[in-house]
Amino acid sequence: MSLREVLIDELRDLYSAENQLVKALPKTAKGAESEALKQIFTEHLAETKGHVERLRQIFSLLGKKPTGKHCSGMEGAIDEVKEALEEDAEGASFDAGLVGAAARVEHYEIAGYSAAILIATTLRETEIAGLLKQTLAEEQNAAKLVMSAAKSILKQALAEEGDEPVPEKKPKSAKEKKSEAESVKDEHDAEEKLAESAEETVKEAPAKKSSSKKK
Ligand SMILES: [Fe+2]
Repeated sequence: MSLREVLIDELRDLYSAENQLVKALPKTAKGAESEALKQIFTEHLAETKGHVERLRQIFSLLGKKPTGKHCSGMEGAIDEVKEALEEDAEGASFDAGLVGAAARVEHYEIAGYSAAILIATTLRETEIAGLLKQTLAEEQNAAKLVMSAAKSILKQALAEEGDEPVPEKKPKSAKEKKSEAESVKDEHDAEEKLAESAEETVKEAPAKKSSSKKK
């Protein structure tokens, strides 16, 4: 695979990610309780439509079609937003749950655009790199806005905790049970590797000590 093909692959991945977001952002804006978050998501939807257009422009510069790859990473990140929107919470604590999921979406895009810019720059595709940088700046700004809105939401969530009655424990849904079982499997699968690295740290420790004595 040539570097140019890698770039096209990355751009198709981003194109799918942006299209998925065009679909998901209106529901996210509608679901958020805080006006500040609603506004951030609504404004970012307008920007996201622009990102789709910018990618189409890039593909026409490359003489390629933009479709051909589904971004499963963004699908997963959007699934986490959907889970946050289904949470049985109210007011600021509901929005507090949404903040992490929204930040993940933005940072996933930031990572994708940063990599694509690096590849385009290496290929001396200055015009394409320039267009991608405009989108990257908007993604970074959106991530910053979510985090600054989060500060007041979290303070409010903490203040609201005092007046809320302790909620009754509800039985777990099938989805929650599945997620819990998978998290235990994740832990189990990592155990051997964690034990290996702990052994390595023990083996390395005396060597480090003796080298620091020499100083
Ligand atoms: Fe975007």
